[in-house]
Amino acid sequence: MKTSRVKGFYKLPLAERRSWLAAELGIEAGELEALLAEGGLDAERATQLVENVVGTYALPFALGLNFVVDGRDRLLPMVVEEPSVVAAASNAAKMVRDGGGFVSTPHPALMIGQIELRGVPDAERAEQCIRAEELRLLDLARAAVPGLVARGGGPRRVEIRRLAREHLVIHLLVDCGHAMGANLVNGASEALAPELARLSGGRVGLRILSNLADERLTTVHCEVPAAALVSGLDIDEGRLLDDIEAASIFAERDPYRAATHNKGIMNGLDSVVIACGNDFRSVEAGAHAYAARAGRYAPLATWRRHGQVLRGELTLPLALGTVGGTLRTHRVAQLALRLADVAGPADLGNLAASAGLASNLAALRALSSEGIQRGHMALHARSVAVAAGAAADEVDWVAAQIAKAGRVELRAAEDALAELRGRPQS
Ligand code: MEV
Repeated sequence: MKTSRVKGFYKLPLAERRSWLAAELGIEAGELEALLAEGGLDAERATQLVENVVGTYALPFALGLNFVVDGRDRLLPMVVEEPSVVAAASNAAKMVRDGGGFVSTPHPALMIGQIELRGVPDAERAEQCIRAEELRLLDLARAAVPGLVARGGGPRRVEIRRLAREHLVIHLLVDCGHAMGANLVNGASEALAPELARLSGGRVGLRILSNLADERLTTVHCEVPAAALVSGLDIDEGRLLDDIEAASIFAERDPYRAATHNKGIMNGLDSVVIACGNDFRSVEAGAHAYAARAGRYAPLATWRRHGQVLRGELTLPLALGTVGGTLRTHRVAQLALRLADVAGPADLGNLAASAGLASNLAALRALSSEGIQRGHMALHARSVAVAAGAAADEVDWVAAQIAKAGRVELRAAEDALAELRGRPQS
């Protein structure tokens, strides 16, 4: 794509936004309409995904704009119901692009399968036997996932952790290629378990992947010039940088604040993960377990002032896939990967983490200056206007009225709507 900086995109009517996107994708507007129809999943297809289906459930599908990630302009697909998440992330991404955009750090990408061994009579000896047999064990595990091995992935390492005197857990580390890998890892772990029980003299317990995927981390950082950060605010540059750093330190010292800080990150991050058809519950479980890895819940992203620049960094486990699962059937998830030009799971992780860091920056900037409510309320006013029954061409007026009056509530929106409809038409 040429640029993700599309001025005034939010002001365009829906049909024009779609024409712009169709042109960007090099397809006909009609083809895009067809892909987006029914949110990408009709009820018949949904019955093939889960049980007891009676319909589908729609959420807004939006574009995160202004993102530059590793030097490339990228469009971010975002699925989220919360007003202001997409606008705030896009606004923060605009500030970040002035500092060169988001930059990722590559990490190895291995999933962890856990094979639990109970009642191990001699844990020391069991560890020795398992270590001595690691290559054979890896061959056994490989035989359980021949397709993955043919594609260049597969089991890579065996690790042993002792939980108690007679209680071991064996980690099987697997390169899952472009898949998230839950089924592959579970299959390989189950295949390996009987041999591990024989070698250890223990009983097999659970065999399942770990969502604390800390061998599949994603890191992105960014540097935001003070001038970009302060633009639009009536506040001293240095003061804002110091206050955002102080907000980071607050989260580093207090788990109660860290939880909310991380929620702000997940606003942007989950939106991209969901849009791209991935399992956001596994991402959430991994993120929060990782946040507590030192024995105390901590922020996933931190911010520091360096002169007139604010530097932020986010690291978390992101076990994502760009093949299989929901992506087989969900047309909008497929479209999402296409419009973001996603090269694979690591690339998708970098995009999702960039959205997360942007959301976090937007929240800390607002909280450190005018407070969160003003921006939130302006956008919340639109959904209240819709709930009051405003039509597409009435929403802006009704929202502006109730926001101006400081009464962002259904009753006020209904009154404003009645007033609008009662006015003589020009
Ligand atoms: C709201 O969805 C997210 C925030 O609470 C995040 C934060 O406080 O950092 C605004």
